[in-house]
Amino acid sequence: MKKIQIINGPNLNLLGRREPGVYGSEPFEGFLAGLRRRYPDVQLDYFQSNIEGELIGKIHGTGFDYDGIILNAGAYTHTSVALLDAIRAVPAPVVEVHISNVHAREAFRHVSLIAAACRGVVCGFGLDSYRLALEGLLAQ
Ligand code: DQA
Repeated sequence: MKKIQIINGPNLNLLGRREPGVYGSEPFEGFLAGLRRRYPDVQLDYFQSNIEGELIGKIHGTGFDYDGIILNAGAYTHTSVALLDAIRAVPAPVVEVHISNVHAREAFRHVSLIAAACRGVVCGFGLDSYRLALEGLLAQ
């Protein structure tokens, strides 16, 4: 069974309530339950933290024996060299994910400090971005 770790960064614990016009009104837990039903042959583990160091710890903790990581680093995408280095430090392929199309938003969201270390990037498809990232990892 393939093991995939989903990691959500800061403020993504508020999905469903946070800026629903941008991020939709579906809480992540319900979406994740649907994803697990749709991919019964994949072990899908989930972690969310608002703390940069905890995200780095989860990448270290899973990146040596999972088949892939789906990472929505939230605003740390645009600021964190430490996350870039953590992704580079582990062998597991990491897919950068965003719910919104960051390129259609403020200029500071157009820059990703982590993308260069990622296998690929999916953004702009709402929560379906996570499923598309999963498909990409499973096709590896
Ligand atoms: C986000 C986009 C980021 O710019 C933002 O800081 C987020 C969410 C997204 O999923 O669209 O927190 O990563």
